[in-house]
Amino acid sequence: MLSQQSQELIFSNSVAQAIEKWVNTARPSKLFVIADSNTAELCLPVIERESKVIADAHRIVFPAGETHKNLDTLASIWGELCDYGASRSAAVVNLGGGVVTDMGGFAAATFKRGIRFVNVPTTLLAAVDAAVGGKTGIDFHGFKNEIGAFCCADAVIISTLFFNTLPQSERMSGFAEMLKHSLIAGGDAFSRLTSVKEMDFAGAGFLELLKESVLVKKRIVEQDPTEKGLRKALNLGHTAGHAFESWALEQGKPVPHGYAVAWGLVVDLVLSHIQLGFPSETLRAVSAFIEENYGRIAIDCSDYDTLVEIMRHDKKNAGDGSISFTLLRAPGEVDVNRTATPEEISVALDIFRDLLHI
Ligand code: GLY
Repeated sequence: MLSQQSQELIFSNSVAQAIEKWVNTARPSKLFVIADSNTAELCLPVIERESKVIADAHRIVFPAGETHKNLDTLASIWGELCDYGASRSAAVVNLGGGVVTDMGGFAAATFKRGIRFVNVPTTLLAAVDAAVGGKTGIDFHGFKNEIGAFCCADAVIISTLFFNTLPQSERMSGFAEMLKHSLIAGGDAFSRLTSVKEMDFAGAGFLELLKESVLVKKRIVEQDPTEKGLRKALNLGHTAGHAFESWALEQGKPVPHGYAVAWGLVVDLVLSHIQLGFPSETLRAVSAFIEENYGRIAIDCSDYDTLVEIMRHDKKNAGDGSISFTLLRAPGEVDVNRTATPEEISVALDIFRDLLHI
């Protein structure tokens, strides 16, 4: 059942009811809930109170954190599915952030050659990115998402219900992927998204913005489910972003993924301006919003060689020694498979530091 079919997206804060409805239609022989230690404590009880099918489901819980997204945890999930009688017509509900939806999705995609699964993302980052679009997998040999498969969840239930369990920095981290989607979508999407004054992540208005953002990703994934071309649009901000994230980790000062992506967006838009004439007034508006809401990363020119070296090892590169970027001619006009030389990247980093007053 490894599949890239289009997946049902349900936008609702009535999460328990949405799960019940899916189960009543899908009629799995047995239901399993996969959660990590955080979501088992903070989110599962909220759903169990309102859903008998979830209260009766077999729980599989593993310790929270990216370090557990590995083969040992995956094997323990497969083991529990085996021991508790999951047949081909069983189903899994993945309740958690990206680690849970990635690994739970991969466990379901591979168990008995594939059983059905539903993603219930509990973080903004997972709701807007990881839980949607069929990327599943685990980290392996020190590389993120090294083993995995494209396999869409049968349904993704997207809500803002659990966002108040997250620290503000985690919510802003997810918001960076929404900024990315708004720049890919074009039109007035960026200005509408950033004009929300007091960010109320739990309000009905925010669920509407989230829906709009997720649909940007859904439209792209439907056209290119296995990232042969257009899906690379979703890598906007991620070449420089991953370099900032790895660099910060190496310095012993880790930053949330979305903060690195936010800064990476500015670098990619500077390169877009240099190579493709991306409008400077939009570049300034994006930079100002990111400086105000994400602060600065403390790099100076002595870090450029290290950052370029990290970018050279990015798995998104073509393998011919060049460094790949996704760039924009303007908001809404994506150009994938662009490359930049180390000299161009250094100039872009200089301008990035000017824009963010670093
Ligand atoms: N995170 C980008 C993608 O799913 O393609």
